[in-house]
Amino acid sequence: MGQTHWMAESSLRDVMSRFATGVTVLTAGGEHGHGMTANAFTSVSLEPPLVLACVAHSARIHESIRRAGGFGVSMLAADQQMTARYFANKQRPIGLAQFDAIDCEFGPHTGAPLLNGALAWLECELAELYPGGDHSIFLGRVLSASRGPDRQALLFYAGGFHHLLPPAKSA
Ligand SMILES: Cc1cc2nc3c(=O)[nH]c(=O)nc-3n(C[C@H](O)[C@H](O)[C@H](O)COP(=O)(O)O)c2cc1C
Repeated sequence: MGQTHWMAESSLRDVMSRFATGVTVLTAGGEHGHGMTANAFTSVSLEPPLVLACVAHSARIHESIRRAGGFGVSMLAADQQMTARYFANKQRPIGLAQFDAIDCEFGPHTGAPLLNGALAWLECELAELYPGGDHSIFLGRVLSASRGPDRQALLFYAGGFHHLLPPAKSA
């Protein structure tokens, strides 16, 4: 007979916490510049190059991205856990002032801050905005994509941060 399965009905939040993800900081530039930690982020299409991010209606960056018409994505490295916590903390300064203590550069295509020390970066123009319950789905057309050297990645899994080594290089 088959093996014994252990399954307990659980909330959607708890079940989704079993899905390990990377961690990004989404950013918007310009007058209403802002940043926010987000793991509801994924690639959508290679041709044309599209990605999506799901943003709560209550998140301040929701309006910032709409106004800016584009956004930046910084994919965080393992040593950027404090940065991930900072951009998920409602107490941080509002607007571009929240980047004063953050090592970043402004993307040439969108003006969105891109965080130095991240694993990789995207700049996107906002292609579509779809309703998604208490979130909106921001579809971004990728304007530029760049990456740094292989380093440990920051992951979010089971409600906590974790580190992941890059794969060993084959000889
Ligand atoms: C690891 C992690 C991932 C998160 N992912 C998302 C996400 O994908 N979408 C979202 O709307 N909020 C997400 N949040 C919550 C926001 O970062 C948090 O509510 C933030 O304070 C909202 O921005 P605001 O303070 O400027 O409104 C995440 C938080 C953490 C710690």
